[in-house]
Amino acid sequence: MRFSNAVAVVTGGGSGIGRATAIRLAQEGAAVVLVGRTAAKLEETAQAIERLGGAGRAEVFAADVTKREQVEAVAEYIRRRHGDLHVLVNNAGISTHTKWLELTEQEWDDVQQVNMKSVFLVSQTLAPLMIEGAKRERVNRAIVNVASLSGHQAGAHIPHYSAAKAGVISLTKSLALELAPHGIRVNSVSPGFVETPLTERGLQNERFVKAIERNTALRRVGTPEEIANVIAFLASAEASYMTGSDVLVDGGWLIT
Ligand code: NAI
Repeated sequence: MRFSNAVAVVTGGGSGIGRATAIRLAQEGAAVVLVGRTAAKLEETAQAIERLGGAGRAEVFAADVTKREQVEAVAEYIRRRHGDLHVLVNNAGISTHTKWLELTEQEWDDVQQVNMKSVFLVSQTLAPLMIEGAKRERVNRAIVNVASLSGHQAGAHIPHYSAAKAGVISLTKSLALELAPHGIRVNSVSPGFVETPLTERGLQNERFVKAIERNTALRRVGTPEEIANVIAFLASAEASYMTGSDVLVDGGWLIT
């Protein structure tokens, strides 16, 4: 029960890694505000949390994390409903596979906006709630950004995504430096290949799956829960001496 009495926000909480993270935090006692564009998907996660029947609970707030006014509405909701924020997981992300010479400006912009600009917008807008809370009560407070293995190395036909995720890893370090005096830790997690709606199409291709297995020391793709475990650790007081770090959770892809 590492998140008893904690209020947490998980962006992109309606599917994949965000869903697993929200469930994990709620299992350990958090009140989780699920933020994403599609209310129906968020509701489904909230119902899964309700079915757990534990101390944690979930609330749904439909918002696009690339739109400042919608992110401000999230902050206003949390301020009125909870008056405090302890954990923020910037997880929302998108990707496309496109060759460099065919990559459109729109595609470039969309991927930068959702993966990287959202970290700026959401963290800047919600951090004041965490800072005010820290002045009242010195308890564990943390931001976890979901970066990617692709932020560490180039991948085929995802230059825009790799650049955005490298940006998230860098932004994590700058934010960690700025928020440390307020008692807020900021770290990122870099997943390797994980079975989620984002990778669903690729993972239907048997040759692609075999290639991943060959190139991964543990010889398999990961599960959303295996990433959620690490996010929960970084968000918890157990990681109290960690800030500005990126944790690779790639099944040993980079060492093969
Ligand atoms: P996913 O597609 O299930 O989750 C992404 C979520 O973000 C979705 O629920 C989507 O609705 C939400 N989202 C997208 N644009 C949004 C916006 N503008 N506003 C609010 N919400 C928005 O995929 P997955 O895999 O769970 O992705 C979660 C994070 O993990 C992403 O940042 C992704 O880049 C990262 N990641 C995933 C890997 C994988 O192999 N699945 C590997 C490395 C990183």
